[in-house]
Amino acid sequence: MKIIISLSALALGSLIILNGCTEPVKEENTQPMNHFHHDPHSFSNPDMAHVTHLHWTAVVDFGQKSIAGTAEFSIETTPNADRIIFDIMDLEIASVEVDGQTATWNVGERLAEFGSPLEIPITEGSKKVKITYKTGPDAGALLWVDGEKPFLFTQSQAILGRTWIPCQDSPGVRYTYSAEVTVPKGLLALMSAENPQSINETGVYSFKMDRPIPSYLMAMAVGEIGFKPIGRRTGVYATYDMLDRAHYEFADMEKMLEAAEGLYGTYAWGRYDLLILPAAFPFGGMENPMLTFATPTILAGDRSLVALVAHELAHSWSGNLVTNATWNDFWLNEGFTVYFEQRIMEAVYGREHAEMLAALTQQGLIQEEEDIFANHPEDTALQLDLEGRNPDDGLTVIAYDKGYFFLRLIEETTGRERFDKFLNQYFTEHAFQVMDTKRFLDYLHKNLITPEEAAIIDIDAWVYGQRLPANMPKVSGERLTLVDAKTAAWNEGKIKASDLPWDQWVYQERYRFISNLNSTGASPERMKELDSKFNILGTGNYEVLFVWLQKAIENNYTVAYPRVESFLIEVGRRKVLTPLYKAMKATEKEAMAKEIYTKARPGYHAVARQTIDELLGTP
Ligand code: BES
Ligand code: ZN
Repeated sequence: MKIIISLSALALGSLIILNGCTEPVKEENTQPMNHFHHDPHSFSNPDMAHVTHLHWTAVVDFGQKSIAGTAEFSIETTPNADRIIFDIMDLEIASVEVDGQTATWNVGERLAEFGSPLEIPITEGSKKVKITYKTGPDAGALLWVDGEKPFLFTQSQAILGRTWIPCQDSPGVRYTYSAEVTVPKGLLALMSAENPQSINETGVYSFKMDRPIPSYLMAMAVGEIGFKPIGRRTGVYATYDMLDRAHYEFADMEKMLEAAEGLYGTYAWGRYDLLILPAAFPFGGMENPMLTFATPTILAGDRSLVALVAHELAHSWSGNLVTNATWNDFWLNEGFTVYFEQRIMEAVYGREHAEMLAALTQQGLIQEEEDIFANHPEDTALQLDLEGRNPDDGLTVIAYDKGYFFLRLIEETTGRERFDKFLNQYFTEHAFQVMDTKRFLDYLHKNLITPEEAAIIDIDAWVYGQRLPANMPKVSGERLTLVDAKTAAWNEGKIKASDLPWDQWVYQERYRFISNLNSTGASPERMKELDSKFNILGTGNYEVLFVWLQKAIENNYTVAYPRVESFLIEVGRRKVLTPLYKAMKATEKEAMAKEIYTKARPGYHAVARQTIDELLGTP
């Protein structure tokens, strides 16, 4: 896709000439000129004019599957500003006003996956821009879930915010917002903001987010949703059928929040609530400020999948407070968050448990890194170059887990005490700001590591180099070593199902066992033996069920195929769909994959659809 060399250069073509000869003059008594990073995934021009506040009014129409909105932005301009550019994708613009006066606008060429620039002429004194619009029928962020009661949710990260609100859709542009949303009576609306706790009679709800956030954290959900408090600042939202289960599952949320604050400083956002979405949610979790969105597949019934909440909570610091400057620095969001998640898990559930999680993570990283390296070797470096590509391509184990092990190596090299102090200071000093890789490394050299330590860590190899450096930290997963011994014995046919301590294993141990079964250990007969003894096919733990189905597909354990189909129709989480469809494709069951996909596709969110379309072709 070579045409997408630089979105902003394209949109700003004529401006560059205008601006090139006149250096903006610094006014006295004002803050330094805002400097924004060049973002290859946004058309916007924040260096000339940027938004500071949004007041959004919207009406949600389930019949038309459309949102009609008015976005009123407060803006700040630099001298000589003559236009402000927003990102939009498939929005129908009805009218534009600048400072109360009807204004013209221009929508530039649409580029696949990136949408179009919406250019509005302004002057350097302009203060307000008001855009009235409607979302299009294929708005990528939105999923309208049909059912007895309708449900709508959004997923904006990375660049889908522009499909439901015009925005300067770059993580470096932050703004506060307020909103008034009208939904059908009987439904509740929630946003990434201060939220109502119960359904009212009018169907009109007000929201306020008074800390500045980037557009990828804009979020909304509408449905017949109830609320139950957990702690002083925490609670769960879910449809009524799941509310009690959710309340039980996440009983430790307040404890996690306290543990997180104990590590890296005061929680900056007021409340921390969790919303359980319909299973079509394409991710495990999404760190929308004040209100994490999560898949219902973590409702295991035994609190075994709460690490996901620790992860999204950790983003309240890494990501939401200190934000990756562009998607090329995605590891600063996710690698830090996995590290922080691990620390929260350790604080709440102990070192042994956390080490088991780390050992699983390490195994997954080593396996998946091979594939990434084979297809896109440059994507195995932490610092990415995603110019001209969809930022989604950066969503791999590299940012998450190579990032995690890099930070863990720094911790092990400097000692935990020094590292914690450093991180605390890092979050405090850069709160509500962006960070890029180079600035982080400069800060690290200045505030933490000595040249000798830097040499031991070999920073460049981790950050700019490909593959996994040889000094990757060792994880002491003793319990998993025992599992591995049993797995080997099982694979060699030396033991029977009744020799496995299945009931004493926590889900992570079961997961490890299943994922390391070889073709002998996972022959249809032996999978059947395991199922007869432990009813793995009937497990309520979706992580275990997922690997079991994957093994079933790979090894033609046909007994499980009906469950493969019902699973893929029920669950829309992309991270589990993709490997299952891939496994079918790889084992000459492409017809089966396509048949299931045809049924399942209408229920999937656009981000999942796009991935599976690429894999199997649009049905
Ligand atoms: N922010 C991510 C989800 C995301 C990343 C959405 C990039 C779109 C683009 C979220 O915090 C996340 O990492 N979720 C994980 C769960 C986590 C426990 C690893 C997921 O959804 O699998
Ligand atoms: Zn994350």
